[in-house]
Amino acid sequence: MMVFINNRFISIEEAHISPLDRGFLFADGVYESIRTYNNKLFRYKDHLDRLKRSLKETRINFKELDSIENIIYELIQKNEVENEALVYLQITRGSAFPRTHSFPKEKISPTIFISVQELKENTVEQSRGVKVIIQEDVRWLRCDIKSTSLLPVVLASQKATEENAAEAILVRDGMITEGTHTNFFAVKDETIFTSPKSRLILEGITRKVVLEFCDKFKIDYCEEFINKDELKSFNEFFITSTTKEITPVTMIDYWTVKDGEPGKITKSLQSVFKKITEDY
Ligand code: PDD
Repeated sequence: MMVFINNRFISIEEAHISPLDRGFLFADGVYESIRTYNNKLFRYKDHLDRLKRSLKETRINFKELDSIENIIYELIQKNEVENEALVYLQITRGSAFPRTHSFPKEKISPTIFISVQELKENTVEQSRGVKVIIQEDVRWLRCDIKSTSLLPVVLASQKATEENAAEAILVRDGMITEGTHTNFFAVKDETIFTSPKSRLILEGITRKVVLEFCDKFKIDYCEEFINKDELKSFNEFFITSTTKEITPVTMIDYWTVKDGEPGKITKSLQSVFKKITEDY
């Protein structure tokens, strides 16, 4: 397996990062997960814009963003990925000694790491739907930044795994924000509801694509937080992300949603999504 670290392609066995890297010491870094359809990076510009924003908000000064796209394609080739690829890209503030919480006084170079892997499609989850569990959202108040500081979602996600669920949906002050690594949607009376863009959620690229479909096909939607206690008044639920695409939610904790089958609107959004990604 070949990876890209700080201006070079190198085998994973030879790759190393300093223990003084602030990504390791403080989770002082940002990341993106991007996938391909037909070997083409999906909505690359949206991912790049989000990465730029994360870098700006964290004041990580990484300049060489324009070359990243070509590097990713070269890395995909070097790894001889046969079908679709999942790309992981991380940029940290870099390494410095002594360890100080504030930014190092001297100028340091950010660390960039890119890896690619063969993407495993979740066809069963997408056709049958998944169980999710509800967990308290104990994350910080800048969830709009795609930060590598992920311990709260690591723990919530592990809890989901232990309860045979595909995702944990997070609740802050009684309101659903999003999943640990997905955005959350609910449907009532043919209207789609999802949390508004704010500091409490990550603005997912897949979420954006779904809302674009709604505009195009005149499906009503409402960007509003959903109260956890009102979940049972909705007919359908689904989660979205780069890897899960549009995945129906058929069970929330021990409640089987309606008849336990993916909902009608969810299925129609899935088929539009399939079409645009097949033609991408
Ligand atoms: N996660 N919300 C959170 C907290 C996320 O981490 C993600 C993405 C999303 C969905 O964003 P998008 O549609 O752009 O993938 C929402 C990625 C997949 C990850 O953590 O690897």
